[in-house]
Amino acid sequence: MSKIRAAITSIGGYVPEYRLTNKILEGMVDTSDDWIISRTGIKERRILKGEGLGTSDMAVEAVNELLKKRGIKADEIDLLICCTVTPDLVFPATANIITDKIGATKAFGFDLMAACSGFLYGLTTGARYIESGLYKKVVVVGGDKMSSIIDYTDRQTCIIFGDGCGAALLEPTEGENGIIDTIMKSDGSGRVHLHQKAGGSVKPASHETIDNKEHFVYQEGQAVFKFAVTNMAEVSAEIMERNNLTSEDVTYLVPHQANKRIIDATAKRMGVGDEKVMLNIEKYGNTTNGTIPLCLWEWENKLKEGDILILSAFGGGFTWGSIYLKWAYNSNS
Ligand code: UT7
Repeated sequence: MSKIRAAITSIGGYVPEYRLTNKILEGMVDTSDDWIISRTGIKERRILKGEGLGTSDMAVEAVNELLKKRGIKADEIDLLICCTVTPDLVFPATANIITDKIGATKAFGFDLMAACSGFLYGLTTGARYIESGLYKKVVVVGGDKMSSIIDYTDRQTCIIFGDGCGAALLEPTEGENGIIDTIMKSDGSGRVHLHQKAGGSVKPASHETIDNKEHFVYQEGQAVFKFAVTNMAEVSAEIMERNNLTSEDVTYLVPHQANKRIIDATAKRMGVGDEKVMLNIEKYGNTTNGTIPLCLWEWENKLKEGDILILSAFGGGFTWGSIYLKWAYNSNS
């Protein structure tokens, strides 16, 4: 019997309407459009406005689109994994909230937290459930409402992050396509450089934690940049080498969109030109778990069956990793 592989068979995405442009940020903090574009590649980011809306509301839009494209109903989903650092609530899992809102009555679900590498960890985990033969339809959601944990008086972080969500459907295939190889890594000692100081069990919310702005993203930009630039490039090269892939073989690099300079360094290490790099950082900034599925969502119509994609990410934890997959369908056929 041939090996069961997990293939992405549909993609959905959602970005909120409101555009927070560099120009608007110039009026909020001491920064400039020129500085932001030259240091990060970002021109604007989307922000989810509206009382009572959270990550699950963006996920509902993304998953419903994915189901519609594939022509299946929510109650056919076996498992939904929600990758996020901005869950609706501390508990229960946002996956449970999403499955309830879309009517995925037969699915079980859980949240997975690996910061900016979350979607890759989620795809890797989801693929194993498919490969085991136990489950036929696994949805992996990657999304964040980063605006809920950003200090809009801190120019080092508020210029980077945005809100958005994407989702991928995994189904079994016995053919050549699908997820071929995955490399996931982590190094918890990196947590000192990128984290949220309060709101967890070590330091629950208090008047003091709020006064000290400890519920926002804390990032030592330069330190994170140094690790990101090296590790994302290295893991991408590693997955190519161990699968005997040359830069000519690769149709697209699908990189986490944290900083255009990190993406450029990764592409250079892999030997692929700009035309092979999915890039939408200028429009959405860093949506954390949302960046990679939102790239796939935007490029879906250009992708052809058999295209070779390398997905790569680096994020808080530290976590990083790379996935080699062969695209399984012609979207515009
Ligand atoms: O997705 C999860 C992982 N996260 C990342 O991968 C992010 C990695 N880090 C980065 O992308 C970059 O480090 C940042 C975009 C956060 C910062 O860029 P940088 O080139 O590393 O800038 P820097 O922190 O070295 O700061 C350079 C200068 C400083 O001024 P002085 O000390 O040289 O006078 C900063 O104060 O730029 C200043 N600066 C700003 N100036 C205008 C910092 N932020 C800003 C700003 N506007 N928004």
